[in-house]
Amino acid sequence: MCGIVGYVGTPGVRSHNALEMVVSGLRRLEYRGYDSAGVALVADAQLWTEKRAGKISNLVEALGGQEVPVSHTGIGHTRWATHGGPTDRNAHPHVSSDSRVAIIHNGIIENFAELREELRETGVVLTSETDSEVAAHLVAAVLPEVDGDLAEALRQVSRRLEGAFTLVAVDADRPDVIVGARRNSPLVVGIGENEAFLASDVAAFIEHTREAIELGQDQVVEVRATGVTVTDFAGNPAEVTPYTIDWDAAAAEKGGYDLFMLKEIAEQPRAVADTLRGRVGRDGRLALDDMRISDAEFREVRKIIVVACGTAFHAGLVAKYAIEHWTRIPCEVELASEFRYRDPIVDARTLVIAVSQSGETMDTLMAMRYAREQGARVLAICNTVGSTMPRESDAVLYTNAGPEIAVASTKAFLTQIVAAYLVGLYLAQVRGNMFGDEIRAIERELEEMPNRVDLVLDTVEGVRALARELADATSVLFIGRHVGFPVALEGALKLKELAYMHAEGFAAGELKHGPIALIEDGVPVVVVMPPKGGRQSLHGKILSNIQEVRARGARTIVIAEEGDESVVPFADHVIRIPPTPTLMQPLVATVPLQVFACEMATARGLDVDQPRNLAKSVTVE
Ligand code: M6R
Repeated sequence: MCGIVGYVGTPGVRSHNALEMVVSGLRRLEYRGYDSAGVALVADAQLWTEKRAGKISNLVEALGGQEVPVSHTGIGHTRWATHGGPTDRNAHPHVSSDSRVAIIHNGIIENFAELREELRETGVVLTSETDSEVAAHLVAAVLPEVDGDLAEALRQVSRRLEGAFTLVAVDADRPDVIVGARRNSPLVVGIGENEAFLASDVAAFIEHTREAIELGQDQVVEVRATGVTVTDFAGNPAEVTPYTIDWDAAAAEKGGYDLFMLKEIAEQPRAVADTLRGRVGRDGRLALDDMRISDAEFREVRKIIVVACGTAFHAGLVAKYAIEHWTRIPCEVELASEFRYRDPIVDARTLVIAVSQSGETMDTLMAMRYAREQGARVLAICNTVGSTMPRESDAVLYTNAGPEIAVASTKAFLTQIVAAYLVGLYLAQVRGNMFGDEIRAIERELEEMPNRVDLVLDTVEGVRALARELADATSVLFIGRHVGFPVALEGALKLKELAYMHAEGFAAGELKHGPIALIEDGVPVVVVMPPKGGRQSLHGKILSNIQEVRARGARTIVIAEEGDESVVPFADHVIRIPPTPTLMQPLVATVPLQVFACEMATARGLDVDQPRNLAKSVTVE
């Protein structure tokens, strides 16, 4: 949600061109928001800015027609609008009235209204409708009182702000420094050779350096080409832990695919294998990473609560079936945005599992913080190393899926399920709920899954053709039972966010309690069929549900395993997946639904990787 880039290089080094660095960083962060974009450069003791509504290409076009001053210090922003529409005026950077300070912001300044009022009373004219602009004016007002110390000014202003914010500032009088402040929203420093970067995400600078420092909560960083100083908001020096980013720039490129989403769908077999890699020891026992919860504490757990949003929430819903089945511990799955507002019953014997690709989703972060305050132990299942959730958790299991750039989550979903299963098996192991050979058998099933996902990917051409055929549909319904229910929800979410189409997922048994009224002639209904050899009652029941919708005119699209001929008489289209045990089936059944949504959006001429109104990482509540 909003991408932020700052750059400071060494004067005279030709390759240290701030505009190029900032714009290339912005392009890599565009997935975070794409309502408007802008840059500010420090050159000849002046600020030079340009900003445009719309995608970064609009900004680049505007820059093309101008003589841009040579500069080695600059900042840039790509916006996901919260306060104020996506206009040129509301685009960042925002500049103080004296034209000396430019600021970019990610997050929401909750007390912005009173700060605007205060500024107005001192004669400041605000030129945008944003919450962010106040920060530029406030910093400019403080600067003379602190001898022009930009870091100190930002510290003082940060102490006055409420809400979530990453702020990055430049000052026309200080061409050798950029300063950033962080509360709740991410900010990472990249340390290059005689140059340095500040960004919301390492993707912005990965092609220049892999040495990074993640800023902590309530910290201010002063970044020069020669070094970095970090303090807390009070000015006390803060300890930093540099780390080396373990993926390279190519991982954040399309790698020959037309779309990031297509690449990420194709990467799923490898991603699942990487989630499993190294987790099963030579003795066959599971070992999870960053586990700061003791086995004794795991044995004491009486309740599990999964908190997550969107696709990650659906992964949690799948995991519930396995975790309860394997551990016999009650497991609730809660939308993170609802969790802390319902007075949940949480105590020291509650294990909260926060599931998040980005590790920055504000709703999930707030839910896990709340749970920790209530004494719960928190385990994060996360894809982004160094992000906030792993840092604030008692234990972490990384999904190791590599960067996910497309706004629609794909490989994150599969790997989150696998990671949550590993947690379930680990609990069953330490609590003695299952025998070692039972756990081993499930591990072997999991290890089979990359091959099975590969098999599905080999056969999705028919799904693509079907999506093109149905591209004019106005509504698509998805039904499933047991773990097939969250798969149905996920299929519907993909279609909504990519094809802007009415799509809903239902527990198949619920249809008759209302939603069946939606069925009319020709409405496509996608059915996730459980394995034939699984629980017979489940298979038989959903077979009846298919007949019920078909009898009312639905066009049935049935996802069923190879060899399940029972569905053929009732299916207008059958999508085949390899035979797989029930609990593993979401890992294969979801893949055709991802392809279906991607192709449907393409056929409708929509932007698959950057759907309207969305952003990859949702860092506001
Ligand atoms: O980064 P997170 O996994 O916490 O993100 C959660 C949701 O915002 C995310 O899954 C969203 O629903 C996706 N766009 C769905 O494809």
